[in-house]
Amino acid sequence: MMFLLASVHSMGQKTLAEATKNKFLFGVAINVQQIKGINPVETKLIKNEFSAIVAENCMKPEQIHPEENRFYWDDADKIVALGEKNKQVVTGHCLIWHSQIGNWFFVGKNGKEVSPEVLKERMRTHILAIVGRYKGRVKGWDVVNEAFEDDGSYRKSKFYNILGKDFIKYAFQFAHQADPNAELYYNDYSMDSPAKYDAVVALVKELKAAGCRIDAVGSQSHMQMESPTLEATETSFKKLKDAGIKILITEWDISILPSPYSGANIATRFNYTKEMDPYREAIPDSIQQKWNKRVLDMYALFLKYSDVIERVTVWGLNDKVSWMNNFPIRGRKDFPVLFDRNNQRKSVVDKMIIMTKH
Ligand code: XIL
Repeated sequence: MMFLLASVHSMGQKTLAEATKNKFLFGVAINVQQIKGINPVETKLIKNEFSAIVAENCMKPEQIHPEENRFYWDDADKIVALGEKNKQVVTGHCLIWHSQIGNWFFVGKNGKEVSPEVLKERMRTHILAIVGRYKGRVKGWDVVNEAFEDDGSYRKSKFYNILGKDFIKYAFQFAHQADPNAELYYNDYSMDSPAKYDAVVALVKELKAAGCRIDAVGSQSHMQMESPTLEATETSFKKLKDAGIKILITEWDISILPSPYSGANIATRFNYTKEMDPYREAIPDSIQQKWNKRVLDMYALFLKYSDVIERVTVWGLNDKVSWMNNFPIRGRKDFPVLFDRNNQRKSVVDKMIIMTKH
């Protein structure tokens, strides 16, 4: 019996959730169709292969708080209930972000930009309502998303322009007030950029000095074939680790396509050309091998730093639903995640499982 079990496992039948149990949570971002359980195959994969889930869109300000006096809870309620049913950790993404937020947030009754006092009050209402509603049920929140530019300067978002950098502190304070036991995270892309991680490390120190709770920094980790390098990624992990900061890989994917842009600001767009969409018919074997190696190299790094990495979340269940098909160029065919367009687990996952020793 033992032999049988061992051979089944070495054939890669185990799930990533099981394999990573003593290392980190292994999560997936899911869309509204998947939250509603429309496709039974996907429903089963989400339940069996992952130990954590996060909403790809439905908890973002624009979706959950579309107008000042209106919240839309249905989908968010469903994902929290799904996590409980599946015994999976649910995390919240995201409370304060310059993208995917209704413009009403920044406009006063007179049609002009709101004062700092009004914006702070709106942030308070927004955060207390959302975090309060799921108190004790959502393990942690991406409190602020993408507050920095790649050069480490503060992004000149409306939050920053109206409130200055203190908007970040307020957001963490409100979130903590709403659920004192919830973990609180700062999340950003291009965390391999030295200017950015230096800025984030400084922010965490500042927040802590101001008495705020902050449990971890999320590195989105939207990757391409060449960028970021393994070295740059490892250096960024070291920097965070040396500063005593826990790490979450929050939005992992590796685009196999050529890329004109290595960041993840969703407002960045390039025009479609055929040259930028080369694998519509098939992926050459050498390219597939290269992608597989890149996944395994990165995953090996996550394992190496598993003492400080608390969760690895893949941004999308399968290649078909991945946002990479439409970012930063619309309408391409990408293959960036761990299950293919037919919901088949890629061979690379078996290797990841074997690499994950207990
Ligand atoms: C993306 C979603 O995947 C898309 O469906 C949506 O159209 C745009 O946003 N950084 C983040 C995520 O923090 O919320 C973004 O998700 C990807 C970049």
